[in-house]
Amino acid sequence: MDYILYEQKGQTGIITINREKALNALNSQVLDELNTTLDAVNLDEVRCLILTGAGTKSFVAGADIGEMSTLTKAEGEAFGKKGNDVFRKIETFPIPVIAAVNGFALGGGCEISMSCDIRICSDNAVFGQPEAGLGITPGFGGTQRMARSCGVSNAMEMILTAKTIKADQAKAIGLVSEVYPAEELMDKAMELAETIASKAQIAVRQSKRCIRRGMQTDIYTGTAYEAEAFGVCCATEDQKGAMKAFMGKALDSYTYLNK
Ligand code: CAA
Repeated sequence: MDYILYEQKGQTGIITINREKALNALNSQVLDELNTTLDAVNLDEVRCLILTGAGTKSFVAGADIGEMSTLTKAEGEAFGKKGNDVFRKIETFPIPVIAAVNGFALGGGCEISMSCDIRICSDNAVFGQPEAGLGITPGFGGTQRMARSCGVSNAMEMILTAKTIKADQAKAIGLVSEVYPAEELMDKAMELAETIASKAQIAVRQSKRCIRRGMQTDIYTGTAYEAEAFGVCCATEDQKGAMKAFMGKALDSYTYLNK
């Protein structure tokens, strides 16, 4: 691996896009390595992933403009599909993925963050979809996920004007859930991952799956998915143990899951 670092800390896997000289821009090799890294995550041990960028300046400054500059129509479509396939793998990954956005998140960088389940960022983060200024549409899911995450008006404004926004504005439009001082970001991401890891894992995975599937369908189908997942959870030791603990000693009810 030239461009991806992977480290497991307890029950958390940390994926770092490590192409700092190009501000972690996504070329085909980075996308391939990311794909291979995701496939190799040990899902028996790892309960949550964190995705971040190397260095202190950039999360991911977009897809690689040099590589894109000579693409033909067919090659452009294939490049878009390559990115979209990897990002869809993140979105449908069995365990939650947290984007720790530590600087520029432009174009493909903003898009990869939107394929993650939770986005938190540093106070120096900058988000944007500059593609319209480069003569292209967003190519790795931006036209689809931004409207779903931030509403149609915000997505239209961001994408059609190609403007950039800072961390506080990203929070205001719901693009990130929290903003932290840069030096605290990874600790906060780890804290979040560990909290998720401490919960009932079948319930966590089922909840992610329900939210993801529910975003693609109508409320009747979505609530049917949820009813099914609820049933699955009711057949688990986690549910029996946690509820028994609650019944026995209310204030201590969650220790069962934190053991
Ligand atoms: N692709 C390739 N190389 C990139 C890059 C990108 N997206 N972003 C930055 N780099 C490279 C620069 O070319 C430069 O390389 P050299 O040192 O070899 O010249 C290096 O990273 C450092 O960048 P800058 O010197 O430009 O750094 P800066 O601090 O002056 O500016 C920046 C930072 C504002 C992020 C600027 O680099 C920039 O605007 N980058 C491009 C951002 C962009 O437009 N991203 C969207 C791409 S389109 C896309 O992603 C399509 C899609 O959806 C699939």
